[in-house]
Amino acid sequence: WSDGLTKRGHVYDSRMAVFADNSVLTHHWHALARSSDLGGGPLSRRLLGRDLVMYRGPDGAVVAAPDRCPHREAPLTLGCMKEGVLQCAYHGWQFGSGGSLVRVPSALPGVPVPPTGNLKPYHAAERYGLVWVCLDTPEADIPCISHDARPEFRRINNPVEHWNASPTRLTDNFMDYTHFPYVHTGTFGTSLDPTVPRYEIEQLDDGWTGYQYDVDVDNPDSARAISGQTAKKLHRHMSTGFTLPFSVRSTIHYETGLEHILLLLAAPVDDVHCYFTFVVWRNDDFSVSAEEVIAFDRAIGEEDRRMLERVPGVLPLSQTGVVSVQADKGSVEWRRRFAGMLNGG
Ligand code: FES
Ligand code: FE
Repeated sequence: WSDGLTKRGHVYDSRMAVFADNSVLTHHWHALARSSDLGGGPLSRRLLGRDLVMYRGPDGAVVAAPDRCPHREAPLTLGCMKEGVLQCAYHGWQFGSGGSLVRVPSALPGVPVPPTGNLKPYHAAERYGLVWVCLDTPEADIPCISHDARPEFRRINNPVEHWNASPTRLTDNFMDYTHFPYVHTGTFGTSLDPTVPRYEIEQLDDGWTGYQYDVDVDNPDSARAISGQTAKKLHRHMSTGFTLPFSVRSTIHYETGLEHILLLLAAPVDDVHCYFTFVVWRNDDFSVSAEEVIAFDRAIGEEDRRMLERVPGVLPLSQTGVVSVQADKGSVEWRRRFAGMLNGG
């Protein structure tokens, strides 16, 4: 496997998937939408190269199924929600809870719908205000954020964005803090010390793997509402950790006791495209609006996006495909375990 990665790892060949056709990833949960995105018509999503339709059935549960009507294969995402069920745009067949075929308009009264006409839904679950989909039998849990169950924390969800970047690039970036002084110049990075103290990879709480560190950051006017402090410089104790395949949790502890937790998620559309969203938890006094809280993190995300959409292809997954230094330890550890996972390890 590693030879294959070396050979084709550096120049991305779109005819040959690097990881998106690896069945291992179909056994993991991927966040594709916010729960609140499923109020209206059917949603179109693409996950690991498969086109999906997503809708909320009359029982309230989300259905995520192949975007193909069993009748004549029209994309169901062309359809609409009609009195709580999904109606195909081609001949009007209707699908309800769990993807079951509930009506064939051409059928005479009393004729039952064909039992083979039900959709074959994938696993779908809602957590943290997000809809998660698993294409095959789940073999891992949705990443754990235990703060979600603590009443002193509020949760703020962000829209799901489509990025023209490999989820491998995003996850590598989220594990990396040496880009801060160069990429995050419009937000918090300007005067950061670029050197990185030695740190060790450790098992963090809630199943995350990563590292902890301390950092002094600027606290410009634009960040004061969020940090809840007025000093020009702030001390933060932070941790950054991953769970496979593409989830990263970043925690910030301020000396005031304020905690700001970020869950950063990249769902693989294919090798070189993904859906990105993030969720924030904070134990603040709710005096700052949710919009203000996320405006700062959104600006940071845009800085990453501007860089990552310019970095082509998949991150080389072999050890020698890119050059790393001590300070890249966190992202190297993620990459090592991700490559091992693809290899069945
Ligand atoms: Fe969907 Fe005919 S193709 S109803
Ligand atoms: Fe960044």
